[in-house]
Amino acid sequence: MSDRPVSTLNKPDAALELTLRPALFSDFTGQPKVKERLEIAVTAAQQRGEALDHILLSGPPGLGKTTIANILAKAMGGNLKSTSGPTIEKAADLAGLLTNLEEGDVLFIDEIHRLQKTIEEYLYPAMEDFKLDIIIDQGPNARSVRLNLPRFTLIGATTRSGLLTAPLLTRFGMRERLDYYVVEDMEKIVVRSARLLNVEIDEKGAHEIARRSRGTPRISNNLLRRVRDFAQVRHDGRITAQVADLALAMLEIDQNGLDEMDKRILEAIITKFGGGPVGVSSLSVAVGEEPDTIEEVYEPYLIMEGYLMRTSQGRVATELSFKTLGLKPAGGAQPKLL
Ligand SMILES: Nc1ncnc2c1ncn2[C@@H]1O[C@H](COP(=O)(O)OP(=O)(O)O)[C@@H](O)[C@H]1O
Ligand SMILES: [Mg+2]
Repeated sequence: MSDRPVSTLNKPDAALELTLRPALFSDFTGQPKVKERLEIAVTAAQQRGEALDHILLSGPPGLGKTTIANILAKAMGGNLKSTSGPTIEKAADLAGLLTNLEEGDVLFIDEIHRLQKTIEEYLYPAMEDFKLDIIIDQGPNARSVRLNLPRFTLIGATTRSGLLTAPLLTRFGMRERLDYYVVEDMEKIVVRSARLLNVEIDEKGAHEIARRSRGTPRISNNLLRRVRDFAQVRHDGRITAQVADLALAMLEIDQNGLDEMDKRILEAIITKFGGGPVGVSSLSVAVGEEPDTIEEVYEPYLIMEGYLMRTSQGRVATELSFKTLGLKPAGGAQPKLL
């Protein structure tokens, strides 16, 4: 199963994320609807003196799932215990995590779609009734013991909600999907990060980085750092539109913010499938990426930006794709006008 990051620019950097990660909802830019629903849930739970409902956060990498989990735990005044689907290998690992929780704590399970099914089953009663049934001893002495757990909040994060089983999905009281950020929000995020990194940047410089970051704060934070280096070594340290453009060109960052896989997908649709329509499974074979990842990680951005359309017959490349890649459909047909 491939869970590789969208590109090297979307790789988490622990130190950077610690400095730049917003700690409060008031610092968190964008995703207005998700933010509003979560803030209401927090306030309501606080007013009732209860733990927050279990929450599933889904969406492409680098959009703020881990950030939101941290903000929620802090807002509720509980501790955040972090783990991830693939690191929980045995039921005992999960039992250890659950029994160490205190009332109101948040257990954050990243990449929850990679949790083993046998372990997932232990989670159901824990989430629903705050009970854990564990088997102790082996052979003829084996017996099941029921432990009471404190009221905790499970926050699951996933890039691929399509892989979650129905029983797990239904146990989350709230399910929120994060979307790519619009350029205006990306600009605010770049300006905020520049302030925290003590970099001088003007509005147009911020715009240039913002629009070439694939709607993804983690990418804009990484690009900002690289542009900062360039501005410092080759210029006077200030990031203007021109400095940003020169730096991004040197780094071979696409003018439109597309990454290698985005381009590979569009190129395949155009050159191998005559511009579409093509089904996601054929496309998956052509580009060597899993269908779920194409649907959940790549397509949303390409659709939002107008490169791709989903039709009942399959994916179709738009005129913008043809123009951007400078390609013509096989057989010399005209690009489909949509
Ligand atoms: N809404 C936001 N406002 C400001 N910065 C953000 C926002 N969302 C994400 N970031 C930045 O992007 C980085 C990646 O976010 P993260 O929560 O780790 O993404 P995910 O868990 O979805 O992969 C964070 O370190 C944070 O600095
Ligand atoms: Mg994360």
